Formats: sequence, structure tokens, C-alpha cells
Amino acid sequence: MSPQAGLHTPDSLRSPRTTAASTTPRAVAALARCRELVEPALRKAVQGLHPEPGRIAAHAFGWCDADGTPGVGSGGKGVRPALAVLGTQAVGASADAAVPAAVAIELIHTFSLMHDDIMDGDERRRHRDSSWKAFGTGPAVLAGDALFALAVRTVAEADDACGAQAVRQLAMMLGELVHGQADDVLFETRPWTGPHAVGLAEYRAMAARKTGSLLGCATALGPVLAGAPPRLTDALAQAGREWGLAFQAVDDVLGIWGDPQVTGKPVHSDLRRGKKTLPVLAAMAAQPSLGPRLERLLGGGTPPDEASVRCAADLVEEAGGRAYALRDARTRVAAARDRLRAEPLVTPRVDDLVALSELLLDRRV
Ligand code: IPE
Ligand code: IPE
Ligand code: MG
Ligand code: MG
Repeated sequence: MSPQAGLHTPDSLRSPRTTAASTTPRAVAALARCRELVEPALRKAVQGLHPEPGRIAAHAFGWCDADGTPGVGSGGKGVRPALAVLGTQAVGASADAAVPAAVAIELIHTFSLMHDDIMDGDERRRHRDSSWKAFGTGPAVLAGDALFALAVRTVAEADDACGAQAVRQLAMMLGELVHGQADDVLFETRPWTGPHAVGLAEYRAMAARKTGSLLGCATALGPVLAGAPPRLTDALAQAGREWGLAFQAVDDVLGIWGDPQVTGKPVHSDLRRGKKTLPVLAAMAAQPSLGPRLERLLGGGTPPDEASVRCAADLVEEAGGRAYALRDARTRVAAARDRLRAEPLVTPRVDDLVALSELLLDRRV
């Protein structure tokens, strides 16, 4: 979670077309506050791992180079632990009570990225080699498993009264995340056109599982551990799921039109692999003649060349796929805001959550 120099300043999180300027400082301050609270506990938990997976995890969190030399690199934005802390405070509990949930969620997130980069064949993550690229696939799988196990233990040991319920939530979320990842990978092999093509509804179900489940759990897990009433934990979980769908829509956009120097991840890898992302599916829905063209450009059995990929990205943009995905994200963030504002939650912390979700709409990283 450590910030790379300058990476998480308001300007780098925000795109030039931002509309959330008034809430940006609030969101950036909340992210920094939550990072400061959670990171010491995260480091302490990871220090208890076997040294090998521990070293791979420390590299993924940006605490050391691949050779183990300590340093400060990008450990990610820290969105999910911030949701955990703010969600917990929103039900009136202390920020300290949120720490085990926040640590567990960031462990799960980083485990899922380690394994995701293997599945997606992506060599870069958080501005450095992804774990499998730096250490090999076997060690990266095991490091991911180690973080997974550590996350479950962190929640199970957090609170006697509500620990079992929290572990249940975590287990349900993990099952969903795996289901979503399985669909995401399977969709790569589905055709671009015809009766077996992936539809928008299928995409949404997949994205809700692979990303919405974790953001929903992030927002609700601390409140569950704090013993908050189900009405409030349900509202927070639902808002988190909407943010997850919005977050994935923006991630899909950045995967096609983002700047790898800023995102720290590859660009165009989704198109090259035939991923069925929201901008592409929306563009094909708006312009049915696009499907066969994309099939020709991207679906030849061998990985497409850069010119074909760029052409596909331009066609998707011209057909309105990028604008659709960003509109969809904006609508979901607004719906989550309205949902939360209707509940008896702590207003300044809901304001923080809303500000954070708006900042994420306009992010470039
Ligand atoms: C990336 O998540 C994975 C998705 C669900 C899109 P983030 O963009 O939050 O990754 P980090 O933690 O900031 O690196
Ligand atoms: C990440 O999905 C979701 C999980 C790891 C569960 P993506 O594959 O779309 O995310 P990035 O773009 O690699 O970060
Ligand atoms: Mg990926
Ligand atoms: Mg993936």
C-alpha cells in the first residue's frame, strides 16, 4: 500500500476531465488516513509468513525489490482497506476496530492479483514485474495461497462474538470471486458474434462476482465484526458491490485507453486475449456490424498484432463503448450514494465513502 512518489497525488488519481474536484481532497485525505492506520498491521501480519512467500508478498506490496532490498514502491491505491475503515466508522464503531477486516481484505485483494496476473498472462503490476514474472509461477501461486490463508486467520482471530459470521462473509465472497474469475477466463474463448457470444447481462454477472464481491465485502466486513445491525451491513455491502461494478468498468476502460506509465499495468492486454470487457460489449450492442470486424481483427487464433489491436480500440471508441462504460460507472456510483444517504449512518464517513467512489470514477491509475 505504500505510495510511489507522486503516484497517488490528487492529480495523478484524477483525469483531466474530472467533475469531482470539490470532493477530491476529502477522498485523498481519507485514503491517506486509512493507509496510515492499516499498513503497520498489514506489515506485521506479512512478517509472520514463511520467508519465501513473505518476500514475494513484500515485493507485491511495494516494500522491497525482487532481490529483497527494502524500498518504497507502489503497493496499490489502498481502496479496499479504506472502504473497510470508513464502512466501520460509518456504523459508529472506531477506526481501530476495522483494522483486522481492512488487513484481511487487502491480503485477499493482493492474493487475487497475484493469481490473476498468471491467468491473464500479465507481466506488469503496480509499476514492477508481476509476482509470477519476478519469482516464477509456482512461487507466486504459493505466495497468493499464503496471503489467502493469512487473511482467513486474521478475520477468524479478530472477534469472538462476530468472528464466525465474518468468516462466513469472507468465504461467500471468495466463492463468488472464484466464480467470477472462472467466467472471465472462459469468456476469452467465447466467440465475438453469434448465439454463443457474451452478452452485457453475462458480463455484469461476471464483474459483480469477480470485483463487486470483494468491494462489497470490504465495505461490510468491519461493520459485521463490530456487530452492526444487518440492515446497515446489507446497505454497505450493496453500495460496495455497486462501487465494484463501477470500478471494474473504469478498469476495463483503462485496460484499453490507459497509460501504462501511470497505471503500472499493461495496456491492450484485454483486447489481445479476447477478454469480453464492458466497452467492447457495449460497442457491439450499439453497432452489431462491429462484432464480425472485431472477430477478424482479434480472433484469428494467434495473438493479434499491435496495429489490429489499436484499430479495434478505435472502433470500440467510435461506436461509443468507452463513453458507455464511463456512464455506467457514474450511474452506479450515484445509485450507491443515494442508497447510503437513506440509511442512519455517520454522515461525515458516508461523505468520505461517496467522495472516494467519485474519485475512483475519474482515476487514471
Ligand atoms: C485492480 O484493483 C483489480 C481490479 C479489480 C480491477 P486496483 O486498481 O484497486 O489495484 P491496486 O491495489 O490499486 O494495485
Ligand atoms: C481483477 O480483474 C479481478 C480479480 C483479480 C479478482 P482484472 O484482470 O480485470 O484486473 P486487472 O486489470 O488485471 O487489474
Ligand atoms: Mg488481470
Ligand atoms: Mg483478470
